[in-house]
Amino acid sequence: MKFILALIFLSKTLAMTWEEADLKAREWCADLTNEEKISLVTGRENMTGVCVGSIDPIERKDFAGLCMQDGPAGVRFANGTATSWQASINTAATFDRDLLYKVGAAQGKEFRDRGINYALGPSVNILRAPASGRIWEAYGEDPFFVGECGVQIIKGMQDSGTIATVKHFVGNDQENNRGASSSNIPEQALWEVYIDPFYRAVKDAEVHAVMSSYNAINGTYSVQNKKLLTDYLKGKIGYQGPVMSDWWSIYDVEKSFGAGMDINMPGGKAWGPDYIGNSYWGEHIQECIDKGIFPQERLDDAALRIIRSLFKAGQMENFPKVNLYIDTLTEENKALNRKVGADSNVLLKNDDSILPISKENNKKKIKKIAIIGKDAMPSKLCNDMGCADGTLPLGWGSGTTDFKYVIDPLSAITERAKKEGIKVVSSGNDNIISGALTAIKADLAIVFVQASSGEEYITVEGNKGDRQNLDLWHHGNDLVKAVAAVNKNTIVVIHAPGPVNLPFKNKVKGIIFAGMPGQETGNSIADVLFGDVNPSGHLPFTWAPREDYPTDVKYDETLPGGGEQKTQYDYDEGLFIGYRWFDKKNIEPTYPFGYGLSYTTFNYSGLDAIMEEDGLHVTLTVTNTGDIAGAAVPMIFLSFPEFVKDYPIRLFKGFNKTILEAGEAKEIEIFIDNHALSYYDVEVKDYVKPKEGEYVVYAGSNARDLPLKTTVSAAISKKRRNHL
Ligand code: NOJ
Repeated sequence: MKFILALIFLSKTLAMTWEEADLKAREWCADLTNEEKISLVTGRENMTGVCVGSIDPIERKDFAGLCMQDGPAGVRFANGTATSWQASINTAATFDRDLLYKVGAAQGKEFRDRGINYALGPSVNILRAPASGRIWEAYGEDPFFVGECGVQIIKGMQDSGTIATVKHFVGNDQENNRGASSSNIPEQALWEVYIDPFYRAVKDAEVHAVMSSYNAINGTYSVQNKKLLTDYLKGKIGYQGPVMSDWWSIYDVEKSFGAGMDINMPGGKAWGPDYIGNSYWGEHIQECIDKGIFPQERLDDAALRIIRSLFKAGQMENFPKVNLYIDTLTEENKALNRKVGADSNVLLKNDDSILPISKENNKKKIKKIAIIGKDAMPSKLCNDMGCADGTLPLGWGSGTTDFKYVIDPLSAITERAKKEGIKVVSSGNDNIISGALTAIKADLAIVFVQASSGEEYITVEGNKGDRQNLDLWHHGNDLVKAVAAVNKNTIVVIHAPGPVNLPFKNKVKGIIFAGMPGQETGNSIADVLFGDVNPSGHLPFTWAPREDYPTDVKYDETLPGGGEQKTQYDYDEGLFIGYRWFDKKNIEPTYPFGYGLSYTTFNYSGLDAIMEEDGLHVTLTVTNTGDIAGAAVPMIFLSFPEFVKDYPIRLFKGFNKTILEAGEAKEIEIFIDNHALSYYDVEVKDYVKPKEGEYVVYAGSNARDLPLKTTVSAAISKKRRNHL
């Protein structure tokens, strides 16, 4: 905590503005030769060194070179010396801005201490289709919420002195054929849904780096998309830093460098030592300048952008030397991972208050618990987590980490149950008969089940990144059904990247969506099961059967990556993804966006809203109506003025997690800024904030539980608000 406070103080007093960084960078770059500039923009080592990406030193200038490393769940390839954090979908599920910031800051410190300049995260791609492989690496389905999460992580990281690389710009929303596909996104949805979190990252968090995506947008690969990179990102949004390619996505020089790409990663034409120095860029950049294909200024600008963001990040002085294996697996980091893991558990069902299992609350006279399922057992730790054997702490791919250890649920629960004098029996496999036989003799059965997903370069159990279906793996449904058939007190814990089918929903008493909680997973779930932590996680996505979503992944035959032939992914649903679609079509989801129970109950009242110059100030009172402390997440949804045509019925625009003692009531304010009050007008070609008409303000606990409603004029109010 002291570290975080010191950080905030330091970053506020020392942070350089972009203008100051620009002046310093121009001065520094003034005597660079073209050869040096070219070495700054073209990656070296080609993934043969300790960093997944690197830029050569320029000794004459005392420039030590640059190191890039994945990824969103902590430092990759650190051989167990770094923290293996929870998946981003878990961090999101806490709906807790402070925690998000702390995670970003703690991760940022682990990168910086190792001399890693660029952390390759966060990912702010949108959960468009539930089967999409990398949804656990980002923050769910809602662009406003994804933006808020990204902003906190970026601020935390950058306050620790690490450059955050927000990725993948833009529309990399599935894995199959990501490098040979075109995401065809209508203009309004492109801005409001897919670009918006990047917009926030630039405007609200001053992100220092952006990574482009593998796919094409509306027919043109992101790395060659001048409109996207130069006109939109650098022009309209005003981004000042460099755009780095995703790995080996660049396959020419004219179009990519000309379009506004600034760093080619990892630099070679293909993987491996043979391609060090054999790049589409390198000396070919000079040839293009000589031929007049793009001007000298393009190279000057790319170099300037890199150096400018290094100055802005405070990395041009006293930056540590690269050492990937220093130990940063501190007790503080373990505790933070455990807390986020616990706070991200989403309690989906808790009939008869079957949970928590605590002594005081043990009216159920629980003396023996059965823990069932291989997902409760120690994990087999394969390379890049490319297997699902034992409990599932993270998915697979570049977004995972090398674990030093994983606390398995069975050990943590056994340890914790001892304190209550409760006996634990177990069946540590997915065998139905063994599971049922173990459960039959217990007072309570907890079944651990899983489904995984990841990045397309690894296929796990037939899933090439994207999941083939939304079923639990390893016959999880059969296991749950068999256990529930013999034990009426059955609880299911699900480790998965997102929604799964729940054919057993009405046959069990409790369900927890635990996501992918990282190395402390067992402790995090034990904390919630025994009531040491009151669950306060909420779904950052809509949970429904696959066919109810408007969108899905496509499993086309693989086309040659980076070529001209592309699979077409048409985003015909436009703005209507996630809960927006379920509202429009009036489909009842299994669990709505924002859903999540607590061991206590909350009441919302007294909704008021005032439109001021800076945005909408909403106030409401939250009361803890139960008899234990807990955290509520009041959520605000808005309907836009009626003249905004073909618009979603309601949009999620505000939240504020609040801890309340039993019986306590608090008046809280939720501020919605002018950008969140705007829509993208394709005629005006910009975000527009309505000046007339009325917004309808809804407040409640999730997208389908909004008991409070008021209206507010879009015009600035003359009334003054009471400052809380
Ligand atoms: C490809 C992934 O898409 C990206 O997220 C990652 O940062 C790079 N590989 C480097 O590993």
